Amino acid sequence: MTLIRFGVSIDKELLLKFDRLIKDKKYTNRSEAFRDLIRQELIQKQWQGDLEVAGAITLVYNHHKRELVNKLMDIQHDFGDLIISSQHIHLDHNNCLEIIAVKGNPKEALNLSDSLKSVKGVNHATLSMSSAGKEI
Ligand code: NI
Repeated sequence: MTLIRFGVSIDKELLLKFDRLIKDKKYTNRSEAFRDLIRQELIQKQWQGDLEVAGAITLVYNHHKRELVNKLMDIQHDFGDLIISSQHIHLDHNNCLEIIAVKGNPKEALNLSDSLKSVKGVNHATLSMSSAGKEI
C-alpha cells in the first residue's frame, strides 16, 4: 500500500465541527477519521451494486408470538444461501435478540433484511452494511 499525502481546503467552521465530531468518536487524528468516512461512502456505494458484500441483521422480538417466530424462520430458510451464521440470545422472559450474518449479493441481502423487518411483531431491526473484505 502506497500512502499519499494531499492537502484539503476546508472552511474553518466546518473543520472545527469535524474536529469536535472526531474527538467525540475517539479518533486520535484527522487522517484516520477521513479514511473511515471515505470507506463508509464506498460501502454505501458497494451496497448499490452487484459485488459481494457482508453485513449483519439484528432483530428484537417477543418469542411468545409463535406465528411471528415461524414466519422469521420460514424467511431465513428461503435465504439459506445468503446467511452464513446466526445467533439467538434470550434477552429476558419475553424478548429475543437475533443476529444474522449475511454474505452475498447486496440486493438479496437488502431483500432479506426488508422481509424480516416488515414481519408484524418485530420490535426493532437494523441492518449493518459492511464489506466482504476484498474491495476495501
Ligand atoms: Ni429467545
